[in-house]
Amino acid sequence: MSKQYFIRQFSSSIRNYSSAKLNSSQIQYGPLSKAQQAFLDRIIRVDQAGELGANYIYMGQYFVLSSKYPHLKPVLKHMWDQEIHHHNTFNRLQVEKRVRPSLLTPLWKLGAIGMGMGTALISKEAAMACTVAVETVIGNHYNQQLRILMNQYNVDLINKETGEKVEKDDLESVKLNTSPELAELKNNISTFRDEELEHLDTAIEHDAEKAVPYILLTEGIKLICKGAIWSAERV
Ligand SMILES: [Fe+2]
Ligand SMILES: [Fe+2]
Repeated sequence: MSKQYFIRQFSSSIRNYSSAKLNSSQIQYGPLSKAQQAFLDRIIRVDQAGELGANYIYMGQYFVLSSKYPHLKPVLKHMWDQEIHHHNTFNRLQVEKRVRPSLLTPLWKLGAIGMGMGTALISKEAAMACTVAVETVIGNHYNQQLRILMNQYNVDLINKETGEKVEKDDLESVKLNTSPELAELKNNISTFRDEELEHLDTAIEHDAEKAVPYILLTEGIKLICKGAIWSAERV
């Protein structure tokens, strides 16, 4: 028998071996429980409201500070652009998943632009202190959501052809454990969380801690943000 024959046999057995593992088109994900679905809706509602708020806070800061402090203009614009992207992402998810927006949306807009402009009118340091407070609360909130999405969203995987339950070892890649939708949501939240924490660092680099009275401002704004999160999750 020729050398080519053995090579052909060898490569065909490799193909057979790899096809024994299931790929994304061969599996389907079991349904989420009511509680899992309700929590996902809540995440999308509160994150959309939060990112809308962030978008309007940076808008307010930009309007007040960009002409007075030209060196801050690109810094604020960069952060604002990222917030616009975060906001647009959750707007899209809200439409795709048919999640109703927070009923208090007009209040979030007004409150956020007021907070952005108000702190910027006090001083540029106060605006940065506002950013520190907001991003601290949002960063923690995103981390809590990620922990729950990592730990409480295991669903059964089903082999489409046989209808049997699939074991994790039968998958072509461990990534297939998570449905594409859930993977996308986790990926967005962790990217946004990292960007929020960059905003926090930027605000500290730009003298947030020199704001007077720093503790009162940041702790007050943190309380407001926590109250807003609590309400947007529910109303
Ligand atoms: Fe954001
Ligand atoms: Fe941010």
